Amino acid sequence: MYYPDSVIDEVRSRNDIVSVIGSYIALKRSGSGYQGLCPFHNEKTPSFHVNPQLQIYKCFGCQKGGNVITFVMEYENVSFPEALRILADRSGYTLPQETESDRAKENRTKREKMMALYKEAAEYYYRKLRASEGKYGMEYLTGRQLSRDTMREFGLGYSDGRLYETVKGRYDDAFLNESGLFTFRENTGAVDKFFNRVMFPIFDQNGRVIAFGGRVMGDAKPKYLNSPESPIFNKSRNLYHLNLARKSRRGYLILCEGYMDVIALTQAGFDNAVATLGTALTEQQATLIARYVKEVILTYDSDEAGQTAINRAIPILYAAGVGARIVDMSPYKDPDEFIKALGAEAYEERIRDARPSYRFEIEFMKSKHAGDADRARAKTEFERDVAAWMLRFESRLERENYMKLFCEEYKVDYRAFAEEVNKAGAAAERRARPAETEPQRAPEVVNGDGEAVTAVRAKKRDEILNTQDYLVTLMASNPKARRVTRKYLTPEDFTGTVYQDVVARCYAMDEDAVADVATLVSRYETPEKQRLVADMLADEMALSTGDIAKSVEDSVMKVWQRRREDLISKAKEEHDDLTAIRMWKENKKLAEDMRRRLRAETY
Ligand code: UTP
Ligand code: MN
Repeated sequence: MYYPDSVIDEVRSRNDIVSVIGSYIALKRSGSGYQGLCPFHNEKTPSFHVNPQLQIYKCFGCQKGGNVITFVMEYENVSFPEALRILADRSGYTLPQETESDRAKENRTKREKMMALYKEAAEYYYRKLRASEGKYGMEYLTGRQLSRDTMREFGLGYSDGRLYETVKGRYDDAFLNESGLFTFRENTGAVDKFFNRVMFPIFDQNGRVIAFGGRVMGDAKPKYLNSPESPIFNKSRNLYHLNLARKSRRGYLILCEGYMDVIALTQAGFDNAVATLGTALTEQQATLIARYVKEVILTYDSDEAGQTAINRAIPILYAAGVGARIVDMSPYKDPDEFIKALGAEAYEERIRDARPSYRFEIEFMKSKHAGDADRARAKTEFERDVAAWMLRFESRLERENYMKLFCEEYKVDYRAFAEEVNKAGAAAERRARPAETEPQRAPEVVNGDGEAVTAVRAKKRDEILNTQDYLVTLMASNPKARRVTRKYLTPEDFTGTVYQDVVARCYAMDEDAVADVATLVSRYETPEKQRLVADMLADEMALSTGDIAKSVEDSVMKVWQRRREDLISKAKEEHDDLTAIRMWKENKKLAEDMRRRLRAETY
């Protein structure tokens, strides 16, 4: 779906960046702009900035940035047209109708097409569960005490293995293969991946189906089969049922391990259950949770694997700023079984009595040494583990409060324990030191074409890109700088197609106009390009520059020089030595001429 620039501009101007971002995260005034905790990475001190003048945002922690459309794309995990639709709705603006040709499949982005396929699959499975083919599926789910309403609410279905027949021909096989819903074999051709299973659709934040889990109806293995990651499904960024649970008014989320736990809890009246679907909780999931709540009730399986998983999840939640309490479900295994046996009220009570996470973690450490017959050694080892654990609290006040609490509860001498904590701190620092000399994890860097490249490759070009950022920002905000620059440089003199494009757009502007940065940003459809353009046009130094003449002169010279170097190496690569030598000889004189002319310019 393509919208004309005028439509994009209208939507953008109706959605002030501060009020849109402010409706997703808390923003505080800071100087001439606003700042807050970045929603795209875990942080405790705000490095996310919103600039109301330029209508752009930037996180100095994770480098994400762009305009209001970029923000919605990144936050809601949607495509450009989808973000536009969200913003249009938000401001009560009606987008122009889709036309027939727009709706044609080949024009859709792959993601949208994939969503359409998944939607179709979900509807197919849903129908089959309620048809004669799904008789055993229905019996199975009814046997697990799910009501018809619950089955509908969760969109449950049944796979009879004949989905391929119904979609074949309407999507090409390469695409169907990529969807993960089918298995392609050389001799037998394509078959459904899910056959004779009850189906659990997995929804994204906006309630669209992006994956499936399928359960066997007996004891066969694997018990659950999940559709793989795809262009629309990223396992580590999704939580089952979050699309609805986030709307709960309970103020916390119940985090469980599986589909059936979430469904059983919901049916029992807990509208705030989500699940990680059998994998360990990831940082991204914790960040996602932190957007909605400050506390999580952990209710993983009572077995050892479940308890270990809880112990891993707690620090990840803590790092994201989410506190946790742990439900004791004994003697039952999971919430589904507990509620079936004792009912919702008993579970509500268990939530009320849920242990704070620090208690759980301390008991978990204690249990590790429980087998040691030497009781004194077991106690010492346990207390040392706890001492090292205390280092998690960066605030001294917080740490000391936990240290005091622990010493009281476990009858430990405070001074001896504090000494142990200090020792653990020193040891941790020693361990951390050699790591500092190691190369830092490469940050995601975007080159002049808006593509992510490795830091090493990007570094070489960094300098010229910095100059280009500076010059382009200057040109966009200052018509005089633009008038002079265009006399000396063509768009092709800049490196990177996105730069060339932005420069061409600047040159095409009215003579006295000042570029609207956020508008320029919305001319690009991918978040990477939007980020690149937003960064390019918000060069701090250029925005505060004093001596325009000198600034334009130096940057024009640099960009011109690099372009000459490029042309010379290109000639060499093509074995056109004559051209290369001629250019190289001319270089000095041309540069001198150019500088002289630039100095004669008036602003
Ligand atoms: P469990 O084995 O605890 O299953 O796995 P469950 O949720 O209690 O399911 P029921 O009650 O037996 O039907 C927890 C979660 O781990 C994932 C699923 O998401 C499941 O809900 N899992 C489990 C798989 O992906 N594959 C498997 O083979 C098993
Ligand atoms: Mn279960």
